[in-house]
Amino acid sequence: MLTFGWHNFCDMMNDTSPKPRILVAGGTGYIGSHTVVELIQSGYEVTIIDDLSNSNASVIEGIAEITGHRPDFVKCDCADFAAVDKVFSDNEDIKAVINFAAFKAVGESVQRPLAYYRNNLNIILNLLDSMTRHGVKGFVFSSSCTVYGQPDENPVTESSPVKKALSPYGNTKQIAEEIISDAITSGAALDAVILRYFNPVGAHPSSLIGEMPNGVPLNLVPYLTQAAIGIRKELSVFGDDYDTPDGTCIRDYIDITDLAKAHVCAIDRIMGGRMAAPMEVFNIGTGRGVSVRELIDTFQSATGVEVPHRIASRRAGDIAKVWADPTKANDVLGWHATVPLGDTLLNAWKWQLALRQRGIQ
Ligand code: WQD
Repeated sequence: MLTFGWHNFCDMMNDTSPKPRILVAGGTGYIGSHTVVELIQSGYEVTIIDDLSNSNASVIEGIAEITGHRPDFVKCDCADFAAVDKVFSDNEDIKAVINFAAFKAVGESVQRPLAYYRNNLNIILNLLDSMTRHGVKGFVFSSSCTVYGQPDENPVTESSPVKKALSPYGNTKQIAEEIISDAITSGAALDAVILRYFNPVGAHPSSLIGEMPNGVPLNLVPYLTQAAIGIRKELSVFGDDYDTPDGTCIRDYIDITDLAKAHVCAIDRIMGGRMAAPMEVFNIGTGRGVSVRELIDTFQSATGVEVPHRIASRRAGDIAKVWADPTKANDVLGWHATVPLGDTLLNAWKWQLALRQRGIQ
């Protein structure tokens, strides 16, 4: 069976047949942009649709500089069906879709639940509707380990129980998975891969693309690097009285480039006709739980830079510990996490320095 990967890319360089085009919704965002880089470097053509509400078109320059190839870009509100459907009409060579487009701030989703449900669910409905109308089967959906809530045990497998979402954001991920499943049950012709991310961190080693949080970062690593460079006075460690070895929360921090490559493995699987069922679910994590304190220590060792920090009270909604069992992704997708956490955090630091050098942060 023809599989799609580096060797095919090399074959493809001599092949004049058109390269498969992948539509990446939300492709100028943090995870989307890193995935576009890996798709292009694996021989795919890419069209990005994004409304730039939480990202910047300059990311496309970074992608072009890294890969030597500029992806097509259409500024588009993915929650607007007509706009999405026009992209499919204008690009009849789209063979598969990856959806990253969503509002994604857990805390904000509690304040603005209707906006989150309207935006995130309209996007998934628009994409699936348009795919059906245009005969596009391949779909990769950006889901999250938040669907597991506080798991009864770790590591978490794909058959670990999905629990009631702890936020409207997490609920939109769960509902989206159900929408995809129900569409397939109704007879929709889909090859859908659901990737449940653990904690994406880091930046591309080139320091040309990375995470660009708007305002005060909500997530640990961008806040940590801003504290290390002096943008923030200090990092607050949200609680050291959890039921964990050092009292701080444990997570599975997955390097952003490793995570991006998981999407290429999913697209390769779909394009290679290797799906074992119309919908497949994979946990994308390292399989290693790391505490907040361990992450701070790893950052300081890898960079030689001190992180000013203090122990603060717990953050509402935080769970104590969650990390992945990535065996299924390893064995079925042929994907493995490869980047050591120290390298990931060094790349995050280099990216923070690059942002300062460009006067962006
Ligand atoms: C990690 C740990 C905090 C900030 C996020 C997304 C979720 C999903 C997974 C995509 C926790 C602690 C944080 C700070 C801290 N992603 N922390 N001080 O909450 O695990 O989940 O990634 O779907 O949607 O929200 O990530 O980085 O916010 O927190 O001590 O300033 O760091 O308590 O233990 P989280 P996070």
